[in-house]
Amino acid sequence: MSESEGAVVSELSQLTGAHGAGAREAVRALRPSQIREVANAGFGVADVLPFWFGESDRVTPQFIRDAASRALADGETFYTHNLGIAPLREALARYVSSLHGATTTGHVAVTSAGVNALMLAAQLVVGAGDRVVAVTPLWPNLVEIPKILGASVETVSLAYGPSGWTLDLDRLLAALTPGTRMLMINSPNNPTGWTMTRDQQRTVLEHCRRHGIWIVADEVYERLYYGDDARVAPSFLDLAARDERVIAVNSFSKAWLMTGWRLGWLVAPTQLMDDLGKLVEYNTSCAPSFVQKAGVVAVAEGERFTQSLVADLRASRDHLVKALQTVDGIDVRAPDGAMYLFFSLPGAAKSLELCKSLVREVGLGLAPGSAFGPEGEGFVRWCYACDSARLDAGVERLRRFLITCGAA
Ligand SMILES: Cc1ncc(COP(=O)(O)O)c(C=O)c1O
Repeated sequence: MSESEGAVVSELSQLTGAHGAGAREAVRALRPSQIREVANAGFGVADVLPFWFGESDRVTPQFIRDAASRALADGETFYTHNLGIAPLREALARYVSSLHGATTTGHVAVTSAGVNALMLAAQLVVGAGDRVVAVTPLWPNLVEIPKILGASVETVSLAYGPSGWTLDLDRLLAALTPGTRMLMINSPNNPTGWTMTRDQQRTVLEHCRRHGIWIVADEVYERLYYGDDARVAPSFLDLAARDERVIAVNSFSKAWLMTGWRLGWLVAPTQLMDDLGKLVEYNTSCAPSFVQKAGVVAVAEGERFTQSLVADLRASRDHLVKALQTVDGIDVRAPDGAMYLFFSLPGAAKSLELCKSLVREVGLGLAPGSAFGPEGEGFVRWCYACDSARLDAGVERLRRFLITCGAA
């Protein structure tokens, strides 16, 4: 670089600030995905068994794929209404009503999957400087999204003890101070599988009502519930009137194995819908038309599929718990919901390093607990949405690893 070019660069960096053409501070401060970091460590390793991501190894059911093919063949390739096509909003209103009580089409909006629903919910109610509370360990998106908007997030950690992961309700209520703008709560929870009880939901709802705090309830795992014989986990929608400060986020990804389709929905007060339409317009404009058509079929005809999926997941969960309990040094319990085991094992005090070693040395792909916040350190997450032979192969790799490094 010549002297005069150097002078121009230095002048430019003075004009643009210390980070030149970099992103703004709130974005630079976001946590990168540690699960990706582990997956990157596995590049070049042959024969990795991946249990790190939150999805099944099974493809979307044929009847849903057929519906999308038909929609494409019929030319469903145009923009739709911001809040979704009427048949999907109607189908979702019927579905939500059947699970959680009367819900009108006017309370439902279609989104581009659960993560977009979370972003939209946050954009609706949170601004710069607002205070948000989240219960952790937690899928990082719920903690990071409010920060993108300039909010500050205080976390309340679940505790791990003899009966698994539990919530200290008094601690949560104490954190939900007057002036708090929003509670982000995910139940059944990723990564722990912890599921909030109805009594806890009632207490939190009453507290938030008293202080005018919005509840954004991430219920994308509500159907993956094994706590009792119920078809669905306890939901804030069972307790709240539809026009109070509760936004429920949901997704087609988990109950119908549609992760790659990017389709989800929100249940929210009708007063929000016009403004939500504007936000959808400026984020994505709409979910893809043929995907929404497939969503109608999933909701209307997918109940038997979802129930058999949940039965399979329950069997996989029980199989993996039993298999891991035979490994020395592992402390694991069967959670009530979602599709993960979140457990401790020797070496997990540095879970990121441990998971990188596991993938490099024995080809076992687990997610480090620290990916879900500092509260998750000391644990690893294993997604059990696959068949038992694959789970057994993974457990054998883990046993081999622990014996080799002298931990078991
Ligand atoms: C807790 C939680 N919420 C929301 C999502 C969003 O899923 P999607 O964007 O695929 O609908 C996930 C995905 O893993 C999740 O674990």
